[in-house]
Amino acid sequence: MANKKIILEKNQGHALIAESIVLNGKKVYIESYGCQMNMNDSEIVASILSKEGYNTTMKMEEADLVLVNTCSIREKAEQTVRKRLEKYNSIKKINPKMKIGVLGCMAERLKEKFLEEEQMVDMVVGPDAYRDLPNLIVEIEDGREAVNVLLSKEETYADIAPVRLNSNGVSAFVSITRGCDNMCTFCVVPKTRGRERSRDPKSIFKEIKNLKDRNFKEITLLGQNVDSYLWFGGGLKKDFNKASKEAQKNAVDFALLLDKCAKTFPDMRIRFSTSNPQDMNLNVIRTMSKHTNICKYIHLPIQSGSTSVLKRMNRKHTRKEYIELINNIRNILPECAISHDMIAGFCGETEAEHEETLSLMEYVKYNFGFMFAYSDRPETPANKNMEDDIPIEIKKRRLTEIIQLQQKHGLYRMQQFIGKEVEVLIEGNSKKSDAHWKGRNSQNAMVIFPKSENEKVGNFVMVEVTNCTSATLIGKRVG
Ligand code: SAH
Ligand code: F3S
Repeated sequence: MANKKIILEKNQGHALIAESIVLNGKKVYIESYGCQMNMNDSEIVASILSKEGYNTTMKMEEADLVLVNTCSIREKAEQTVRKRLEKYNSIKKINPKMKIGVLGCMAERLKEKFLEEEQMVDMVVGPDAYRDLPNLIVEIEDGREAVNVLLSKEETYADIAPVRLNSNGVSAFVSITRGCDNMCTFCVVPKTRGRERSRDPKSIFKEIKNLKDRNFKEITLLGQNVDSYLWFGGGLKKDFNKASKEAQKNAVDFALLLDKCAKTFPDMRIRFSTSNPQDMNLNVIRTMSKHTNICKYIHLPIQSGSTSVLKRMNRKHTRKEYIELINNIRNILPECAISHDMIAGFCGETEAEHEETLSLMEYVKYNFGFMFAYSDRPETPANKNMEDDIPIEIKKRRLTEIIQLQQKHGLYRMQQFIGKEVEVLIEGNSKKSDAHWKGRNSQNAMVIFPKSENEKVGNFVMVEVTNCTSATLIGKRVG
């Protein structure tokens, strides 16, 4: 099923952007691991480098500079990056001029330690320091090591138009917030990406307008916690109360931003990710119901179905409050798809608490899910204050139970589309056959259907769903 494939991609961190860039005759290759935000950050990095005269190619072997944009969310994600660093270093032996730079969350987490411990990298650059890349590259070209891991209160890269890497020319990510203030006890993100800041709506609209002019048809507004978006002139969200009365009065929250996006770009599909249940409110759900071009899909991670586990995780809501939110979504947006993130085997999780996760899933019957075994991350509040006491076999068994239940629900949700007509945005050829198109419906389900005349990538078409697998809807064009 579609979500299973996505889980694999998330777990194995092989959602890659591999590009190399030619600068003044020099070539740079970028590889990205982790979340959508990282993919978008690599596009920002490519843009910063292109202003310095860089162009892209795809051959790592001939690169003078290899950049790897890294993820720290689970131990496995870091292991994957370490393996890649070994690979780059084996190539460096053949091409000794080649320099290696580490970007993103692992760079921020390990800082100078990367240079000391690994002896494998020349440059370490945190997520808020990409504007400094041209200077840092000069340093390493002169034979010095370079590190910039300063986190910022202001940086949103608002004025930088990302260079779209590996793009299908149809859908693009647009970052609206950076960092996170939530301090979930298991999570390394607040440490690696700093405090939450929102991006100026004007720059968001400018970027979407530019995408529209280049024929893009769908955008995904991105942030660790998009529903917490709040623009009041810039700076950290936690300083909102210190802003002037005027700035507070004119503030733009997520529901308003979404409403303006949908009105300003009526021909584009709008998606967003990720929603934290504590910040998702009725205004957002009502705004979604007002506009047909806002996709009816909400990624609403809960992590556990047990209120006591949620408390230990420092998630700011209970199981009951989450169920109320789900009920509100079902009432106002009956056709809306919902997905989750779930962690199996968090510190102290009892069998009864795990059962509560399964029963919550049974209640919601999620369309998709991203599921993980708890991974203890250095210097998180859970790492400092709690014991990672669930044996790995039990974590794995609970994870398997969660995945199997999700597969059942995913198939059930796919089957509900059979016999219905859905609007599909054509994204490209189906993987298996050039005679078929692939594209997604509003609910984010992948749809495959035979090509007919007068259609092309980027068209919206109506498809009648005739069959499904757990991963894909299969249909035929109507109208
Ligand atoms: N704010 C983002 C969270 C990004 S992390 C969001 O709400 O989606 C993405 C997911 O990784 C989290 O939702 C969580 O399920 C998982 N995750 C984070 N830290 C983890 C850890 N230490 N062990 C296992 N999974 C973790
Ligand atoms: Fe992490 Fe929780 Fe923020 S999962 S990214 S601290 S909402």
